[in-house]
Amino acid sequence: MPTITQSKQAGIEQNYQHTPIGFDCGAGLTKLCFFCGRIQKRLRQPSKLLELKSPLLEELKSPEGGQFTYHSGNRSDLIGRQFLTGELAAWKEPTTHIKLSDDPTLKAEYVLHMVLGALASVEYRPKWNLFLVASTHSRALFSDKLKALTNGTHTVTFGGADMPASTVNITVGSVVPEGAGAYTYAKRLNALDSSSRVIGFDLGTSTVIPQVFGPGGKLIYHQPLETGGVIDLLEAIATDTQLLEQLGTGKSANLELIRKGLESGDFSYGTRRFNTRALYAKHIKLWLAARLRLAFKATKEWRDEAGSLIAWGGGSELPGVSQMLNTQGVISLPQGGWANALGLQIIATALKARRE
Ligand SMILES: Nc1ncnc2c1ncn2[C@@H]1O[C@H](COP(=O)(O)OP(=O)(O)OP(=O)(O)O)[C@@H](O)[C@H]1O
Ligand SMILES: [Mg+2]
Repeated sequence: MPTITQSKQAGIEQNYQHTPIGFDCGAGLTKLCFFCGRIQKRLRQPSKLLELKSPLLEELKSPEGGQFTYHSGNRSDLIGRQFLTGELAAWKEPTTHIKLSDDPTLKAEYVLHMVLGALASVEYRPKWNLFLVASTHSRALFSDKLKALTNGTHTVTFGGADMPASTVNITVGSVVPEGAGAYTYAKRLNALDSSSRVIGFDLGTSTVIPQVFGPGGKLIYHQPLETGGVIDLLEAIATDTQLLEQLGTGKSANLELIRKGLESGDFSYGTRRFNTRALYAKHIKLWLAARLRLAFKATKEWRDEAGSLIAWGGGSELPGVSQMLNTQGVISLPQGGWANALGLQIIATALKARRE
């Protein structure tokens, strides 16, 4: 492992002491936010993971994923092991990589891997000191495990075992309920009335979660709908007979390609000549109407006293969704997919300042 000069290292360390980090480990997308000087950094990667059992033929690089080797530190079980995260995991093993959406317990187990994978995608630093605030659907079940498996010092190399080492010190400042970040972010934007009840809808990949916050932001109600999140919409498009006919393979279409086309707004399907615009228009209204109906039903008893109805999660950024939500009196937070992670970063910054 080559090292860099000591004066450069000292300068970098001084600049980057104890960075407050907002970390939202979604079932579909992991989001990590922090300030680098005055620049707001946002690192996003699919919530996917793969342990490498043999060396890569060539180094893989993506802004939405990373590679790391664990050399020493508190996680002695990881010493000598190499991992790919995000897109890199999906590129290497398209079908057999671990998806965090497969099982809710995987999130707590792999938070450290996802943080290290995210750091692999940014400019090299010999040392990172992270003060992390994460969110989870079930604090009671996962908070202790998440802290035990993530806290501590971890010496790794990014991008291959022979790269310069980085020492990553992580303190998990707090594990807060899912949605606390989005509430905090909305408050910062003056997008809600914190003196009254607030009803929120998180339109995520796996789940749609209606939640109710009391005055001041304490969570009163939080219950994912039985029906799934954006994944159901992607699957409805992927299995639509019109698309199956166009593909002509007899298999359902690729969800990742559909997702990318929707996110880019051009409805492309990889490099194929057709696009998914008409199919999206066919399915989106049904998808949203069913979820809104169930979410309104679940939060009915708080509705009359609610000062604000807000939506966030990547689903609120799907084409046309914020306009449709608006007609029902629901305001979409700007950058809804990032709202929770950005709010967690605000919480991390405040918590760290209080502890100093
Ligand atoms: N900017 C965007 N434009 C359009 N769609 C988006 C955008 N960002 C995300 N999405 C879509 O929204 C979905 C949900 O994203 P989000 O990041 O909220 O899910 P998640 O947090 O991983 O899931 P969960 O909350 O269920 O754990 C993504 O799978 C993606 O398809
Ligand atoms: Mg989410």
